[in-house]
Amino acid sequence: MDTVEIASGRFVLRPCRDVDADWVYRACQDPAIQRWTRVPTPYRLDDAVGYVTEHVSQSWASGRAAPFGVFDALSGEGLGTVGLVSMDLPEGLAEVGYWVAPWARRRGVATVATLAVARWAFGELGVKRLTWLAEVGNTGSRAVAEHAGFTVEGVLRDRIRTRDGSRADAWIGSLLPSDLKS
Ligand SMILES: CC(C)(COP(=O)(O)OP(=O)(O)OC[C@H]1O[C@@H](n2cnc3c(N)ncnc32)[C@H](O)[C@@H]1OP(=O)(O)O)[C@@H](O)C(=O)NCCC(=O)NCCS
Repeated sequence: MDTVEIASGRFVLRPCRDVDADWVYRACQDPAIQRWTRVPTPYRLDDAVGYVTEHVSQSWASGRAAPFGVFDALSGEGLGTVGLVSMDLPEGLAEVGYWVAPWARRRGVATVATLAVARWAFGELGVKRLTWLAEVGNTGSRAVAEHAGFTVEGVLRDRIRTRDGSRADAWIGSLLPSDLKS
């Protein structure tokens, strides 16, 4: 799949590239990102370099995932990542994922970026149902999903494998094209 850049008001979404390794590394030291996402722990600079040089391009090339960095439109500062994973375009399905750097929180980054990716997924990729999944208890992630218009549908028991090898329940929600106001 060809990469794209999405302009969304205060923010620009584009795939991360090699120059982004430093801020991704700094952001992923954050305990909340390590607690609630699947980033490696401890998170080393090599992990960020591998992410921006290999993971991002391989994801786009495979057509199974579409990861974006989120940047301040004026300064170019890196603020977070948002993207589609588990894409199954013939079925019209994709899942959204996000994290926001500690220095950029509570400014609407996750909500605005999620909505921008959703509009792109519905309009350009023909996605018919966007899924959101988060470990039960991740109230920040749930608040973002609800702000963006997702309907929380319930709990999936033992859906998530945790870092210590045990299982955790997940909240699941969905956003449909008809949920978005034009
Ligand atoms: C959850 C996270 C993505 C939120 O990013 P953000 O850019 O700060 O979110 P927004 O600014 O768009 O927040 C929108 C609303 O969600 C709510 N919200 C955001 N973070 C919250 C938190 N930690 N706890 C409770 N509510 C929260 C607020 O109501 C907020 O609106 P307000 O600031 O006007 O009150 C960010 O804290 C993060 O990266 N957490 C760690 C990684 C993670 O959990 N990723 C999701 C994995 S499923």
